[in-house]
Amino acid sequence: MDIRHAIEDDLPIITEIYNHAVRTTTAIWNDRVVDVANRAAWLKAHDEADLPVLVSVDDDGVVNGYATFGPWRAWDGYKYTVEHSVYVHKAAQRKGVGKALMHALMGAARERGYHVMIAGIESGNVGSLRLHEQLGFQKVGECPQVGCKFGRWLDLTFMQVTFEGCPLPK
Ligand SMILES: CC(C)(COP(=O)(O)OP(=O)(O)OC[C@H]1O[C@@H](n2cnc3c(N)ncnc32)[C@H](O)[C@@H]1OP(=O)(O)O)[C@@H](O)C(=O)NCCC(=O)NCCS
Repeated sequence: MDIRHAIEDDLPIITEIYNHAVRTTTAIWNDRVVDVANRAAWLKAHDEADLPVLVSVDDDGVVNGYATFGPWRAWDGYKYTVEHSVYVHKAAQRKGVGKALMHALMGAARERGYHVMIAGIESGNVGSLRLHEQLGFQKVGECPQVGCKFGRWLDLTFMQVTFEGCPLPK
């Protein structure tokens, strides 16, 4: 498996993975699917802001997952904290893809000088909770019933990892 930065050719599969998560999971609290043009604008905005969009590529050259991060909160004081997302194609799950993407994404965050990564995870998403625990993330809070999808309230668990040795900027 290879991990690399996303390019325009990856957008159809990224769109498919995203829309599958919208339609069938509580990983994304969106009801609206997107088209490739929407993801093209999203990728362009990330590239311009030096925010990585990484894809995993299987041995046959097929993209089977992606991960990215963006600002956690808009105010200046939060500028060294990012919130990420990671999505693996249904057919490729539980084969180490999510973990590999996250290792690469955490490396990209460190390289860019970020101090904290935050994951906002639907509290029933056991796979994502376990994945993040394995990566060293710790649960730091839970907000009950802050979301809704599929006709039920959703709880949000926050997990974070802090990169030690990252100096406090002046
Ligand atoms: C959550 C997700 C990213 C995990 O990616 P993955 O490639 O399937 O996970 P990996 O194979 O890398 O698993 C790494 C570890 O995570 C844990 N894990 C992953 N999926 C799990 C599941 N369904 N149940 C329990 N533990 C799971 C395990 O500890 C696993 O290690 P192990 O296989 O050695 O036991 C993937 O299932 C996914 O894309 N789900 C839909 C979207 C989503 O929920 N994204 C996260 C939003 S916060």
